[in-house]
Amino acid sequence: MSLDHYDTISPTARLVAEMRRYSDIPFAEEIAERIGAAEVVRGMLEGEAPAAELLCWMAPTLEARYKCVVEGIRTSGVKQVIELASGFSFRGDAMNQTASLRYLETDLAEMHETRLHLRDELRRDGVLAVQPHVVFAPLNAVEPDGALVARHLLPDEPVAVVHEGLLQYFSMDEKQRVALQVADILRRHGGVWLTPDFEVISGAALKHWTHPHFMRIHSAIARSTHRSLRGAAFTSVEEVERFLSGLGFQATPRPQIDGTFPLSSVGRVGTTPEQVELLRRDRLLWEIRLR
Ligand SMILES: C[S@@+](CC[C@H](N)C(=O)[O-])C[C@H]1O[C@@H](n2cnc3c(N)ncnc32)[C@H](O)[C@@H]1O
Repeated sequence: MSLDHYDTISPTARLVAEMRRYSDIPFAEEIAERIGAAEVVRGMLEGEAPAAELLCWMAPTLEARYKCVVEGIRTSGVKQVIELASGFSFRGDAMNQTASLRYLETDLAEMHETRLHLRDELRRDGVLAVQPHVVFAPLNAVEPDGALVARHLLPDEPVAVVHEGLLQYFSMDEKQRVALQVADILRRHGGVWLTPDFEVISGAALKHWTHPHFMRIHSAIARSTHRSLRGAAFTSVEEVERFLSGLGFQATPRPQIDGTFPLSSVGRVGTTPEQVELLRRDRLLWEIRLR
């Protein structure tokens, strides 16, 4: 597959941005509004507004996914971060409101241009402050670019490599290529790989995602990306551990929802305590280090 095919994955970032609108994640509302995220989601749903049953699962799932990465970075104590496939998360700006981090946010070249324009707009309108240590750069996560990493990260400082919502679209071979790139960065810098992306499709919560809107969203994603979210997924935690161990990593899975942050979307979209409990049991953040 030629490299520019990855651009077909980029619109999914608008779906994520729309779901974040129901949370207190910094800048979520302003970003979703400016990128027309609601229209994209309506398009996926063939003109319908998202059903309450869709929102009550997806909004807290994506809020927890974002926030557990923030918490993972904080508790790692690492002071520089490289994020792959950042999309519209703007986590570097959000975290630098309260911490001082060197934060390299990357995505595909075309998405990178879109993000630069959006950042300019948000700065012009006073939503974002100018943060000299938050750098945006183009990077294909399956194509190593040691020069780019060396240019932007301090050489003798450990790094947190993070991403969310990337590996789910990739074949095993592509997941492995990302892992090898991460291994190379960790070998040079030390540090940790933090990601919720090693999802396991046998999760208990997923069995409840039966509303037709889930199917429509899956079909819309499969049609536009030519990729199936389920096709190349892991089926068990042990399978993820074997995959990572075979590449020289030691992996520790932890619950994403661990009480360290509030799930603000729960009240707004009407997620029940039972639904939160299922998400708590299913959703994992992977803390991965070189052995
Ligand atoms: C579901 S979105 C997630 C975006 C962001 N992480 C978030 O949570 O808001 C998937 C992202 O992966 C990016 N992407 C797809 N293929 C990529 C690749 N080969 N290298 C880097 N980024 C890629 C897309 O441009 C898009 O921003």
